[in-house]
Amino acid sequence: MAWTSFPVPRLQGAIRAPGDKSCSHRALMFAGIAEGTSEISGLLEGEDVLNTAKAMAALGAVTTRTGDGRWSVKGVGRAGLRSPDAALDFGNSGTGSRLMMGLMSGYPINVEIIGDESLSKRPMNRVINPLEKMGARFEHDGRGMLPLRLHGSDKLTPIAFAPPQASAQVKSCVLLAGLNAVGKTVVTETRATRDHTERMLRGFGAEVGTASGEGTQNIVSIEGGQQLQAVDTAIPGDPSSAAFLIAAALISRSGGVIVEGIMSNETRDGFFQAAALMGADLGAEEMGDAAGERLIDMQGASSQLQGRAIPEELVASMIDEFPILAVLAAFAEGDTVVTGAEELRVKESDRIAAIVAMLRVNGVEVDETEDGFVVHGCGGPPPGGGLVETHHDHRIAMSALVMGTASQNPVSIDDAAMIATSYPAFMSHMAELGADIRET
Ligand code: S3P
Repeated sequence: MAWTSFPVPRLQGAIRAPGDKSCSHRALMFAGIAEGTSEISGLLEGEDVLNTAKAMAALGAVTTRTGDGRWSVKGVGRAGLRSPDAALDFGNSGTGSRLMMGLMSGYPINVEIIGDESLSKRPMNRVINPLEKMGARFEHDGRGMLPLRLHGSDKLTPIAFAPPQASAQVKSCVLLAGLNAVGKTVVTETRATRDHTERMLRGFGAEVGTASGEGTQNIVSIEGGQQLQAVDTAIPGDPSSAAFLIAAALISRSGGVIVEGIMSNETRDGFFQAAALMGADLGAEEMGDAAGERLIDMQGASSQLQGRAIPEELVASMIDEFPILAVLAAFAEGDTVVTGAEELRVKESDRIAAIVAMLRVNGVEVDETEDGFVVHGCGGPPPGGGLVETHHDHRIAMSALVMGTASQNPVSIDDAAMIATSYPAFMSHMAELGADIRET
């Protein structure tokens, strides 16, 4: 069903950021294998995270929803995970499926893993390869994609692994398998990616080593055989979801938006840094912490943006924010150049192609490159008026709708249902700020 975002003169208001998706997945997984009962609040109840909750329940954890965003999880503890009765369906979620493959590999269980059309096209060899080296076995049709069957083992061999891609999912997958391996597993990243697995494992009582190597290297190690302990934890607000609201404020003709309780973590803040380089009017105020993460209230106001070359060292820390960055670039004066972002080709859609198509159909000039794109900014509101193909990608859908709030003409998307995978409250939050987004 198509949805259309109509231009509005002003966006204003304050919104509490929804729970962080990465942290929500991990909290359910770690609580599910811990000893004792964990109480989680502020959980993002998006479809991706709910699929992880269902998977943990099918593997033996007792998961109970006790209120809005509140979950009580009784972990399996030393009894370990058991083989589920049916296939585990991870829907649209790369994070859920890949992290769970690592976690499940360390138990002697057999599991069939499936996902939706988009997830079934995404590469799983990046996790299958290291997990096979550790002793897990996989059955699949040879393409290294879902559906597949995993045979885990309680005698995994630890490895020293350097993921060829900058990927927190691959790093986390190997570390979680390492948690149940016999000995020490080491992951070396050439460029540090989001560190929620490391931080949250520590919160659940595990020892995780981190060290920096040469240049921007990040070396993470974990000793196998550590038993996690239940905790009470609050999930910090999602900077990736907040980015859509802040971007809407920046491109608005007038007004300002505050997003409260955003996790401030340098492995996640690349978008805000890039926006600041482009001249965004941003402000931040400290407001405490949650689950070992600093929290801020962030303010964004209508800004005159300038195109910039996005520094490659920011790419990993804004990997999910390129669709919305491209929207800022469309409104900016001059060129915005993105390089070193080839991982975008294997996200929920080929995001380089999807971003380029989203801008072109709305009258913005953009060049596609192998590892990025160049947006020739309009120096103000772009023409708009296009129908954007979302390719079942929630971030393309939300970006296009944000673009429509301040373009010269409305912007439509072919489908909005998948927004619920990561940000179920997006439409109501945008409406609260004054956006005019309707089913058409
Ligand atoms: C995530 C890692 C990133 C990111 C995804 C969440 C995580 O994926 O795109 O939305 O929670 O570890 P990659 O590891 O594939 O870059």
